[in-house]
Amino acid sequence: MYQLAGKRILLGVTGGIAAYKSAVLLRLLRNHGADVRVVMTHGAMEFVTPLTFQALSGKPVHTELLDLEAESAMGHIELARWADLVLIAPTSANVMAKIANGVADDLLSTLCLATDVPLMLAPAMNQQMWLNSVTQENLEKLKNRGLGILGPAEGEQACGENGPGRMLEAEEIALLTAKSFETNILTGSRVLVTAGPTREAIDPVRYISNRSSGKMGYAVALAAMEAGAQVSLVSGPVNLSEPERINVTKVNSAVEMHSAVMQQICNADIFISAAAVADYSLESIARQKIKKSDDSLQLKLKKNPDILSDVSAMQNAPFSVGFAAETENLEANAQSKLHAKKLDMIAANQVGDEQGFDADTNALTVYWKTGQKQLQQAPKTRLARNLINLIADQYNAKNTNKTH
Ligand code: C5P
Repeated sequence: MYQLAGKRILLGVTGGIAAYKSAVLLRLLRNHGADVRVVMTHGAMEFVTPLTFQALSGKPVHTELLDLEAESAMGHIELARWADLVLIAPTSANVMAKIANGVADDLLSTLCLATDVPLMLAPAMNQQMWLNSVTQENLEKLKNRGLGILGPAEGEQACGENGPGRMLEAEEIALLTAKSFETNILTGSRVLVTAGPTREAIDPVRYISNRSSGKMGYAVALAAMEAGAQVSLVSGPVNLSEPERINVTKVNSAVEMHSAVMQQICNADIFISAAAVADYSLESIARQKIKKSDDSLQLKLKKNPDILSDVSAMQNAPFSVGFAAETENLEANAQSKLHAKKLDMIAANQVGDEQGFDADTNALTVYWKTGQKQLQQAPKTRLARNLINLIADQYNAKNTNKTH
């Protein structure tokens, strides 16, 4: 379930005997790398205590909509924005009805209205309640709105009856949750991504670098893989763990990154250059540690190769996507890079004032020849998925045009 790594899942627990299974579900999601926060309804707290979920999630459990202390720690709107997915397991008939009809009278139902991320429900209720035409109407409404409905299973129920309404087992819910992150929009394509900073050595112990954390590039690589692509990543030095199923080449300098990219580029259909490559490196690297002697020290720099420009200038160049981190004139600079570097697409973001580099969230404006799209402030993982959707749209459109 590699798709769960780094995913932010808001687990809603509602009032039903199946609530105890959610404790197992929470552990499974976390074991597979998901970051989980739990929201419980008052009904759920009649069955399981918040302490259980707090101990298992390692995070405070959210139960109240209008609680000053809780709101100041992480308010309901923040919680709604934080999540990549809202999963409600078990979902009672009551909560299904509330979500189907837009009722927002407690924390969980309000969150469901306030979020724009996918919602998945694992219903659990007595079979008569499930078969009731009102519940079935609500189910249709929810399905038509595109919500994911997991189960329910059929079988013996806690109330002694037999029929549909049992919550799916935790393992099955975790698996379906993981699968929901797969889109297949890039199935069959090969994607090469660069990420992180480069380090340009000054002497054996010093270097010039920048504040890039690699988070955006790694998130893009992961999102491309979840979209079905075969992904390779050329990474500068970062403090991130290597994603499973992605072929990672580690480099230090811009020149090393350039040669690693050039070696792999003929196997790529799409090149996404998210690395913050140093523009300059030392003309000569001192062999020994430079001694502190004079009052000032001059370093002579030479221009590094522009990896992205070299790729996009190739005959049969892959679909090339650049990033533009700008402190001013975002649109003008991004548009001129799009043309100057002959790119298919560029993702521009404002940096500086603690924005952009090293943060977990970001906002992007994406430009291509015939359009542009604003991707609102969001966790980099979600932003990366939205960016991959845009890239896939434009890449698939370009390929369709070529074949016609
Ligand atoms: O020209 P500028 O450095 O602002 O362009 C940014 C884009 O170019 C990014 O996508 C970055 O990864 C790429 N780049 C590169 N090689 C360089 C400098 C930038 O691939 N030497």
